[in-house]
Amino acid sequence: MRAIASRRERFEADGFLVLPGFASSQSIAALRARATEIVAAFDPSESRTIFTTRDESTKADRYFLTSGDKIRCFFEEGSFDAGGELRQPKALSINKIGHAMHDLDPIFSRFSHDPRLQQLAFELGAWEPRVYQSMYIFKQPHIGSEVRWHQDATYFVTDPISVTGLWFALEPADRRNGCLWVQPGGHRTPLRQRFEVDGSGSRLTTLDATPWPAAAAAVPLEVEAGTLVVLHGLLPHYSAPNRSPLSRHAYSLHYVDGKSVYAPTNWLQRPPAFPARPFAGRA
Ligand code: FE2
Repeated sequence: MRAIASRRERFEADGFLVLPGFASSQSIAALRARATEIVAAFDPSESRTIFTTRDESTKADRYFLTSGDKIRCFFEEGSFDAGGELRQPKALSINKIGHAMHDLDPIFSRFSHDPRLQQLAFELGAWEPRVYQSMYIFKQPHIGSEVRWHQDATYFVTDPISVTGLWFALEPADRRNGCLWVQPGGHRTPLRQRFEVDGSGSRLTTLDATPWPAAAAAVPLEVEAGTLVVLHGLLPHYSAPNRSPLSRHAYSLHYVDGKSVYAPTNWLQRPPAFPARPFAGRA
């Protein structure tokens, strides 16, 4: 009888892994409570930036582009009315928190710097995993917007490509509330786009005209709270809008291999005094 494939074999074959039961209910509760506190302390007048992947060039403004070493809240698209007032309570209007709470916030840091994640990154082939980004994603009931087909390597270009996404379900995710959809094996397709920032601003450049997968090629990842989904940086994935009355909270981390060259035009740059750290152990 054939042995059960290892995590690395499955990851290399499919471009993703689904690992149920990774996060305990206690750790999930701690992250959710902390996210609630961060949003409660957030002053909406600080920024009315609306995060959307639909028009990167105009919406990826300074507030977003300078958030790589900070903890900031980003509003859901359509949160404000024509008069600039929130249509619903602030706590139900935030799209996400990002992008450095894994280093700056003690609760998120403890969760993010778990030796099991270091072990997993080694097992999947990284030599020197460095955690560049964290996001708390709310996918709010009724208004949680879609995230269209993309490859995470578009936003984290390294040579060779090494970015890997870790996506932790903090609530059950299914087709009703906007779960992840992936193209199994799609990590063997080329990098289609590259998001770059330089002195003249930000832009999304097409590198390869390979179309996004047909709907029939997409598989929904319906998972329980506590599940860890690992995504290869080239794996096409998306999530549909959340039209349901249920939220779909998730926490995500992105790491790259310190052995690869991190593009100076990536939007997220860490200052030398605040380097991206490994999951565990010494920097
Ligand atoms: Fe993604």
